[in-house]
Amino acid sequence: MTALSAAKRPAIQETAGRYAVTLLGIRKEFGSAVAVEDLDLDVRPGEFLTLLGPSGCGKTTTLNMIAGFLTPDAGQIMLDGQDVHHLPPDRRDTAMVFQQYALFPHLTVGRNVGYGLQMRKRPKPEIRKRVAEALERVGLAGKEDRLPGQLSGGQQQRVALARAIVVQPKVLLFDEPLSNLDLKLREQLRLEIKHLQRELGITSIFVTHDQTEALVMSDRIAVMRGGRIDQLDTPEMIYREPANAFVAGFIGQSNLISGVCTEAGSDRCTIELSTSNTVHARHPGTVTAGDSVRVLLRPEALRLGSDGAPSTLTGAVIEIINEGNIATVVVQVSTDVRLRVAVSDPGALRLPTLGDVIPVSIPPGAARALPTGG
Ligand SMILES: Nc1ncnc2c1ncn2[C@@H]1O[C@H](COP(=O)(O)OP(=O)(O)O)[C@@H](O)[C@H]1O
Ligand SMILES: [Mg+2]
Repeated sequence: MTALSAAKRPAIQETAGRYAVTLLGIRKEFGSAVAVEDLDLDVRPGEFLTLLGPSGCGKTTTLNMIAGFLTPDAGQIMLDGQDVHHLPPDRRDTAMVFQQYALFPHLTVGRNVGYGLQMRKRPKPEIRKRVAEALERVGLAGKEDRLPGQLSGGQQQRVALARAIVVQPKVLLFDEPLSNLDLKLREQLRLEIKHLQRELGITSIFVTHDQTEALVMSDRIAVMRGGRIDQLDTPEMIYREPANAFVAGFIGQSNLISGVCTEAGSDRCTIELSTSNTVHARHPGTVTAGDSVRVLLRPEALRLGSDGAPSTLTGAVIEIINEGNIATVVVQVSTDVRLRVAVSDPGALRLPTLGDVIPVSIPPGAARALPTGG
């Protein structure tokens, strides 16, 4: 462990006890590759926090350091205000649910779930009772005597979940637990895990590369890239007020158009788009005149037609994807700018026809300018 800079030390004492999990200046290298870099994170008691990012951005490494499976090269990890660097995984009061279930194949469901309690030398009747309760909570009441191989993937993951909650850990850690399951089951288990977590009130850190999963389940999302956190905020804020073009592109559907800032106030600016249109945009406070930016236009914020809006882009309709309750109209504005416009209730509105040249308007407040570098 590298010593922390003196400047950072007071912050540890201040946060001690207030957060369920605190990471401060965490770094982890594998050979010459930096997997996690200068990472700070506070998780509130009872919170469901998701680490979201593309493959290889350092999510699993971060989770494994919290669990104690990996030791950070620098920085500090506190659980419930206590520095845990000297504690092995089994003394950290965390429990992990893995993508691959990681059940003992030769042990019954009951023995798998009760394993942690047996390690903690709890009396047999107590183990039996708590295992039964945990299995009931995950919808597997009475399945004690099955072997994991006799269960479906979804059921096996429920067993893994029961095994994690039965020890009543202070922190539940999830590493892409739904990624091996098919979509329907994934959608169902998302909600079940979320409900269970809310009921039990256990602080949870959930790792996924699936933005929908993150948006649906989380109290807050930390969007990671290259071993760092780009933005930590509520799902709504991450969606509405992304800090940069990477976050905007990673979460939700987005149109991102290049432009240059010609004028900037503290949170509003004027952008000359690559299409030569001028738009007024909000910005995260980090854009100044002369900057190259990407302008975010969410498909549902755009309107077909000119609609009297101050900025209008015109182009030919090249694709219409009608899903019944929502349709996406794709308009080619210039060689490199293509806009996706979401139309809700397309039945009530006459959709254009392929090849039509139509205006797309940008209502006031719809555009957000984002720094390209960050
Ligand atoms: N045991 C390891 N040895 C070498 N490199 C590793 C090891 N574990 C992870 N890495 C590298 O560290 C980076 C982060 O990996 P990981 O935390 O697994 O990412 P994620 O879970 O976000 O996909 C990747 O570049 C990965 O290749
Ligand atoms: Mg991973």
